[in-house]
Amino acid sequence: MAVLGLLSVTLEIPDIEAGVRFYSDAGLSATVEGNRAYMRCETQDRASIVLVGGAPRKRIHHIQLRAERLDEIATAIPSLGGLVTDAPAGFAPEGLWVRDPHGMMFHLCEHPADSDLAIPPTPFEINGPGRIVRKRRSAIMPKQSYLPVRPLRLGHVLVFTPDVLASVEFVTQAFGMGLADRAQDIIAFTCTRNDSDHHVIAFAKSGGIGFHHASFQVADPDEVGRGGRALLAKAGLGDWGFGRHTIGSNFFHYIQDPWGSWFEYYADIDHIDDYSAWTPTNYSMEDALASWGPEVPQDFVHNYELDGAPFPRESIGSLG
Ligand SMILES: [Fe+2]
Repeated sequence: MAVLGLLSVTLEIPDIEAGVRFYSDAGLSATVEGNRAYMRCETQDRASIVLVGGAPRKRIHHIQLRAERLDEIATAIPSLGGLVTDAPAGFAPEGLWVRDPHGMMFHLCEHPADSDLAIPPTPFEINGPGRIVRKRRSAIMPKQSYLPVRPLRLGHVLVFTPDVLASVEFVTQAFGMGLADRAQDIIAFTCTRNDSDHHVIAFAKSGGIGFHHASFQVADPDEVGRGGRALLAKAGLGDWGFGRHTIGSNFFHYIQDPWGSWFEYYADIDHIDDYSAWTPTNYSMEDALASWGPEVPQDFVHNYELDGAPFPRESIGSLG
């Protein structure tokens, strides 16, 4: 039994227009049908973010995963503390709907794999000591030469959980995922077993479940920087970046969405082609968030989906 990849995350939000504006500004394309918006990467024909408007506040609805052998997964779920449920009202009955022991909902679907991403015409190259790979051309063009940054694909989501290690246990046992790395019992990163980004679903400790961020791959670190600055200028809320994670090694820039959660542009994440050849590391907390970067915003890991945690910033704490 196995989960093969991440397809989308669905969020309930108060104002569909604000959601479409934010994710459009981030470089996704919108299709709006009634009170739902389907936000997709331009090079893909499926949504990566689904927004359902009219909710009293932002709340994660479910994570959609590409999977195989759904019958075997369904059989294993009850003994692992999960629940196989009917499709929620208004959602497709196909596939397998699952709640984990904390109530986080997953929709597992048989779905074709994404096609490979195109290699950029001018790949990112770094001249280093004794290693000159870029000659007779400038790395950076005049600002006006660049088109707006467009995310290539949804790479991972990070969600809150009241018990990080129990959530990891569930997705590894029930979905056949692997623990990539963790920092104590505060944050953990899981991948699929073959040809996976370092993390596909990550978990951070909080008082309850919730959505922290969705992360989109862009071509290179320059696009992380340019995309992040451009979205920050439009969104006007918080940001964290440009920086580089220790766990996963990806360059990042996070921009706060209208509900206090985050959108991440990333580039150059570690890749696990064969999980059987990977050894997870348990990092100390000083490596939990970043190797380097700006000071972490006070509410970066605050779970605004908990009762009594409104956004913006009427009540903040260091950990949700
Ligand atoms: Fe991330």
